[in-house]
Amino acid sequence: MTIQFSTKIFPQADLQSAKQLSSSLKSLLTQNTDCLVLGYSQADFDGLISNKGNKSKSGLLTELDLLLGGSVSHAAVLGDLDGKQASVCLLRADKSWPANAVKAKRVLLLGMGDLKMAADRSLTTFSKVARAGLKALSGGSIENALWFAPSFTLSKTSEMIAQEVRLTIQYAGDHAYRFGVRQPTMKFKVKDKPDSFKHLIFAGNAACTAALKEAIEQGSAMVEGMHLAKDLGNLPPNICTPTYLGKTAQGLAKKTNLKVEVLGLKQIEALGMGSFLSVAKGSETPPQFIVMRHQGGKAGEAPVVLVGKGITFDTGGISLKPGEAMDEMKYDMCGAASVIGTLYAAALMKLKKNVIGVVPTCENMPSGRATRPGDIVKSMSGQTIEILNTDAEGRLILCDALTYVERFKPKAVIDIATLTGACVIALGHVHSGLFSDDDDLVNALTKAGHDSLDTVWRLPLDAAYHEQLKSNFADVANIGGRPAGSVTAACFLSRFTEKYKWAHLDIAGTAWKSGAAKGSTGRPVPLLVNYLLEQK
Ligand code: BES
Ligand code: MN
Ligand code: ZN
Repeated sequence: MTIQFSTKIFPQADLQSAKQLSSSLKSLLTQNTDCLVLGYSQADFDGLISNKGNKSKSGLLTELDLLLGGSVSHAAVLGDLDGKQASVCLLRADKSWPANAVKAKRVLLLGMGDLKMAADRSLTTFSKVARAGLKALSGGSIENALWFAPSFTLSKTSEMIAQEVRLTIQYAGDHAYRFGVRQPTMKFKVKDKPDSFKHLIFAGNAACTAALKEAIEQGSAMVEGMHLAKDLGNLPPNICTPTYLGKTAQGLAKKTNLKVEVLGLKQIEALGMGSFLSVAKGSETPPQFIVMRHQGGKAGEAPVVLVGKGITFDTGGISLKPGEAMDEMKYDMCGAASVIGTLYAAALMKLKKNVIGVVPTCENMPSGRATRPGDIVKSMSGQTIEILNTDAEGRLILCDALTYVERFKPKAVIDIATLTGACVIALGHVHSGLFSDDDDLVNALTKAGHDSLDTVWRLPLDAAYHEQLKSNFADVANIGGRPAGSVTAACFLSRFTEKYKWAHLDIAGTAWKSGAAKGSTGRPVPLLVNYLLEQK
């Protein structure tokens, strides 16, 4: 574990009530912490400025200034502290702080902006503030911090606090992530030094105790899931093979209550997965079909099934890709990584629902045994497919997995895939593409994305687009030409999902970053975890 999260409850602490304000701050300041983190509003700042020399009126910054020997107003005079949103001011203990009453070594003040404006109370605003705060905590000599959660929200509902705490943990996890440290089989030295920031303690009061504890359990589990997903994505394709993914899943079954089954070539053949096998054929490394179960709900309860594209390297096959940035096609298993990460998180947080993760995984390689453009194969569903481009391989492995999962009588099936370059053109790196005919599922996933700031945008899936997939020689072609490339890919998949509620997430633009910051983002683990948590 690279970073730890815990709670500390101050039952009486309440910064909203003028009466409690001073005593609450006093008890927080007596804590032995590297850094006490507090949110303040524009109104608190205005209060500080107008109250200078008039100590009668109270406000968070005014009271704090009294307790810290004037160092808050000093920072304001210097211009280090202002009322703006997401502004950051770090105060360090010095002789003006009463040593017997103040044990905190630093106080980090984070500007929430004008909380009278509805927009400034949104989760999006909070996320900017939290990001700025975590940046200030990381990368220096601060090792632990006490984050007073109730100071960041105007509405005192414990759900709001829980949501904010989960998001803060998610971002702290992003900062703490280092490639490879969790992978025992990594033979290379870990390049980056671990962050010195190791322990984030959330302080709360009586009103939010339960919500805080729960949010921390859920958030910490989600971070572990995200870190695993990032590692699997970032690992080089000579290490992260289909076999490696299978072993990783089996390893999780030893650490948690997950039940994991990994099918090999013979079993995949016996299932009649002709489409999946047509992709695997060109590679020297064998395909694997991974099934992970989290049985947290009642025995008969219909599961949510997640299906992840697990192409551990996509050369394009005989329809070979151009060489530029081809290394990034090691990320073509990020759908699989997000499924494995989400199942791990569900198990760690002992989620009270049934969830099944399914991962078809193989390499897409050119060779004398590889599938040719023009080949016709038979899918597990019985539909024949004319493969016109071997680079449209994701849908070929997913369609058989989508047929396989019918046996689970799922409540809903969500597939996650780095499916099309066209999705990157359509949505860039901001939203993942969401395709579904089921409005309830669309609404639930959109909300989950919003709540975790791991957002999606719906794209169409009309019958009209199916025209583009017509084949002269088989039931369906595997490509539909350049127009609406992401939509026709989703349409192809939809032909295999008639038996249940289904949604498809195209994460081609969101699963990893290119360029100087090249690396896996861990998306859409936060979205999926939030979706599972928010399910009734
Ligand atoms: N894995 C790629 C999609 C991809 C490309 C994701 C670039 C992220 C960045 C997928 O297998 C693929 O090659 N899709 C083709 C489909 C086409 C041949 C219809 C594409 O998008 O070009
Ligand atoms: Mn491809
Ligand atoms: Zn691919």
